[in-house]
Amino acid sequence: MKLTLLALAALPAVTAETILGVYIFHRHGDRTPKALAPANLTSLGQEQVYQSGAYYRSRYVASDASSPIYRLSSDVAVANQMTVTSQTDTVLQNSAQAFMQGVYPPVGTVSVEKLANGSSIEGSLNGYQYIPINAVASASSSSNAENNEWLQGGSGCGNAVVSSNNYFSSSEYLSTLKGTQDFYQGLLPVINSTFTSSQASFKNGYTIYDYINVATIHNSTIPSEDLLTNETLHELFWLANAHEWGLAYNETDPIRAVAGATLAGQIVTQLNATLTGKSKQPLGVQFGAYASFLSFFGLAQLPAVSDNFRGIVDYASSMAFELVDTSDAAVTASSYPAAADVSVRFLFANGSAAAHAPVAYPLFGQSETLLPWTTFVAEMGKFAIADTAAWCTACGNSTGVCAQFASGSDSGSGSASATSTSGNGISLPVAGVIGALVTLVVILGVEALVYFVAGLKLVKKSALAASSGPTSELKA
Ligand SMILES: *[C@@H]1O[C@H](CO)[C@@H](O)[C@H](O)[C@H]1NC(C)=O
Ligand SMILES: *[C@@H]1O[C@H](CO)[C@@H](O)[C@H](O)[C@H]1NC(C)=O
Ligand SMILES: *[C@@H]1O[C@H](CO)[C@@H](O)[C@H](O)[C@H]1NC(C)=O
Ligand SMILES: *[C@@H]1O[C@H](CO)[C@@H](O)[C@H](O)[C@H]1NC(C)=O
Ligand SMILES: *[C@@H]1O[C@H](CO)[C@@H](O)[C@H](O)[C@H]1NC(C)=O
Ligand SMILES: *[C@@H]1O[C@H](CO)[C@@H](O)[C@H](O)[C@H]1NC(C)=O
Ligand SMILES: *[C@@H]1O[C@H](CO)[C@@H](O)[C@H](O)[C@H]1NC(C)=O
Ligand SMILES: *[C@@H]1O[C@H](CO)[C@@H](O)[C@H](O)[C@H]1NC(C)=O
Ligand SMILES: *[C@@H]1O[C@H](CO)[C@@H](O)[C@H](O)[C@H]1NC(C)=O
Repeated sequence: MKLTLLALAALPAVTAETILGVYIFHRHGDRTPKALAPANLTSLGQEQVYQSGAYYRSRYVASDASSPIYRLSSDVAVANQMTVTSQTDTVLQNSAQAFMQGVYPPVGTVSVEKLANGSSIEGSLNGYQYIPINAVASASSSSNAENNEWLQGGSGCGNAVVSSNNYFSSSEYLSTLKGTQDFYQGLLPVINSTFTSSQASFKNGYTIYDYINVATIHNSTIPSEDLLTNETLHELFWLANAHEWGLAYNETDPIRAVAGATLAGQIVTQLNATLTGKSKQPLGVQFGAYASFLSFFGLAQLPAVSDNFRGIVDYASSMAFELVDTSDAAVTASSYPAAADVSVRFLFANGSAAAHAPVAYPLFGQSETLLPWTTFVAEMGKFAIADTAAWCTACGNSTGVCAQFASGSDSGSGSASATSTSGNGISLPVAGVIGALVTLVVILGVEALVYFVAGLKLVKKSALAASSGPTSELKA
């Protein structure tokens, strides 16, 4: 024991790195099934995201945090030090609120104020901290991301809609559709209260999986439960993963991953603002759909690290991008590190970070988990979409918000990598709106859309029988 202590004391002092800022992209917690709209965050889900927030508090925020973020308030949330965004969707927004409560819990007596007349008053709910969640609206009028069955249909990105539709005519999809017909039909006794015979196919691979998965988590009474062997459940999940990956990313057709490209633009914009503002606003948090994770994973070449990155991330998963000062000097207001001394670390937690501690992975097919800022920016710039003009070009859109860029600027290649992140980057709120515009959400199919729109949990089979070909569903 003594020896160990001595040995440690003899080592040269290791300068702890300083975290200058962090961007966290987060999935919502456990919820009710998409097939039974409206989906709600469950108590289990609240707890998952709240605990994730508590984990990040202990890592970055608390006064005894393991890697405190430079200039970030420890206990009392300071609104202009952070930007928290979520789509206008109850599951995502409630998740964001619960998460931020984990990050900044009620402050109790700290909130007590003394009034002029001498009396004292404590903030409501034991000093609950009301942290603004910037709601971003989607182009498609009333999009509730977790209720909607749209994928690119709600993204508003023309070329991405076409690209994801192409998945449904790919040989990969068609052969799986054919090969799994009997499998899905065999599950009808389990799902027939919600899915018709014509809906029971790989075409609805995700929603069927989702429906059954929720039932197994919540111990609902599942009819014909004996059909759900471990093998069947595994197959169901595997197929759902293939389906969602197919819609979210295609190596030779990058616009399909527009959600990931836009997210990349937001990440670089925010981290750059943190850096140029000397950590005045060091924390960025966004809540979004798992499909954005998948698109980003594909673009950032994470499947090269592990095939697991082709799989749907668990509820309450998060990825964090740490802006790290790697110089030896202590960071102070007067000696803020130059960009050349700053690196970025990517972390991913598959499930609530409290239970699944974030792990660092190398991005862009590199071997290092700590990339120089300049390398990070250059690599992200290969696919990031950071402003409206780039988005319009990549999406091939020329009307609506894109009309202003349409005239005379038809030189774009139409690829997602057209424009990078520099120059007249859009302001964050606008970026948030675009993020919402292009966020991928699960596709179900025209049938599901029908009952979403109609607000019905069950649809008459006759109304759905005449479902048209797969390519029509995104247009609905
Ligand atoms: C979600 O909550 C709403 C309002 O409480 C309720 O009407 C709806 O049935 C819930 N959805 C599910 C799937 O439980
Ligand atoms: C002091 O002012 C507050 C706010 O106006 C009021 O609610 C409270 O009753 C006052 N207390 C006394 C002792 O007057
Ligand atoms: C982009 O173009 C597509 C296809 O024309 C259209 O459906 C979509 O609404 C447009 N998006 C925006 C934001 O204008
Ligand atoms: C991926 O894109 C290529 C080129 O557009 C296309 O040929 C192929 O079918 C697509 N694959 C899938 C699974 O969508
Ligand atoms: C669902 O399947 C079960 C078992 O095959 C059957 O008893 C039941 O009537 C079916 N329900 C519906 C709504 O078709
Ligand atoms: C799950 O549901 C079954 C049947 O409804 C019930 O017998 C069982 O006790 C439940 N298990 C738990 C852990 O709640
Ligand atoms: C099925 O999986 C569960 C959970 O992993 C395990 O506890 C159980 O033993 C498995 N059942 C069979 C029959 O393999
Ligand atoms: C996350 O966990 C799910 C299983 O719950 C798995 O399918 C997926 O591949 C995992 N992703 C990563 C990146 O580990
Ligand atoms: C970072 O912000 C500065 C100042 O706004 C800008 O000049 C620079 O181009 C930005 N860099 C990136 C990579 O966005």
